[in-house]
Amino acid sequence: MRIGMLTGGGDCPGLNAVMRAVVRKGVEHHGDEIVGFLDGWRGVVERRTRPLDVRAMRGTLPRGGTILGSSRTNPFTIEGGVERCQETLSAEGIDALIAIGGEDTLGVAARLHDLGVAVVGVPKTIDNDLSGTELTFGFDTAVQICVDAIDRLHTTAESHDRVMVVEVMGRHAGHIATWAGIAGGAALVLIPEEPFDIEPLCETIVARHEAGRYASIVVVAEGATPKEGTLAVASGEVDQFGHAQLGGIGDVVAREIRQRTGFDTRVTILGHVQRGGTPTAFDRVLATRFGVAAIDAVHDGAFGQMVALQSAAIVRVPLAEAAGSLKLVDPALYDVAKVFFGH
Ligand code: F6P
Repeated sequence: MRIGMLTGGGDCPGLNAVMRAVVRKGVEHHGDEIVGFLDGWRGVVERRTRPLDVRAMRGTLPRGGTILGSSRTNPFTIEGGVERCQETLSAEGIDALIAIGGEDTLGVAARLHDLGVAVVGVPKTIDNDLSGTELTFGFDTAVQICVDAIDRLHTTAESHDRVMVVEVMGRHAGHIATWAGIAGGAALVLIPEEPFDIEPLCETIVARHEAGRYASIVVVAEGATPKEGTLAVASGEVDQFGHAQLGGIGDVVAREIRQRTGFDTRVTILGHVQRGGTPTAFDRVLATRFGVAAIDAVHDGAFGQMVALQSAAIVRVPLAEAAGSLKLVDPALYDVAKVFFGH
């Protein structure tokens, strides 16, 4: 078969590992020819490709980013975008497409599948908020990067009796914040799922300091929001999927803690550091399992499906299910983080 492959949305460590697995099993086991589309759906719209053979994928297992490039292009919001995708796929003689991406990229894949495109999805998001799969690759790496940073912040915070606010990724869901907060021993974790009230949070920090702990780590997901009417927060530019550029809530939280408690407070915004660099061993294995499962799904004709991790096994779920709703932080896990709030 001649199979197209693309990576869309924000990059994350493990994308190359998925593609390496697809190519290795596709070429050597099934006798496939794999064509990479550059920069996500934009490469399909503009018919920009590169061949992906075993040689092209050599050395990419530990490499972060994506050798195909990525974008947040949405063919459904571009005039004639869908028709151009269909023309490209037919001109390139593509029998099936493997789309590696999050809710936006897979949402496009689901809609193209409804229009007759043979597509299989692979779940990708650093935020780990995609439904249908318990984990996405890249998430473990991001959490580890955050925990490494928090461990370092603990020692400098203790030396100076400071409150350290650490802003981490997590646009709609606080998976990274919750995991990193638990693993890093945070005194508070703020997530989008539970809008926060800054005043009681400050009281918690004051109580902690009165109890003799003068340094605190406060982990804030970038999508965390104050309870309505409690604090003003600015919003950023919007992309083709309608998502505002985030970042900045850490500064707001740090400013409020400083003003309301009088404690010396600093902020660290980890930003794209969380998405860069080499994937952890766990993410390499998960990405490799997804890649092998995706090419097998293509050969089983399981189109309109996404490979996923459920109860430690790789399964298939409908693309529409994955793209339909977000997977939020399990309240039971957030309750575990809360046990340590203020202590
Ligand atoms: O969706 C993944 C993500 O990393 C979010 O956590 C973050 O809000 C966003 O992408 C950042 O996007 P960009 O790389 O376009 O700045």
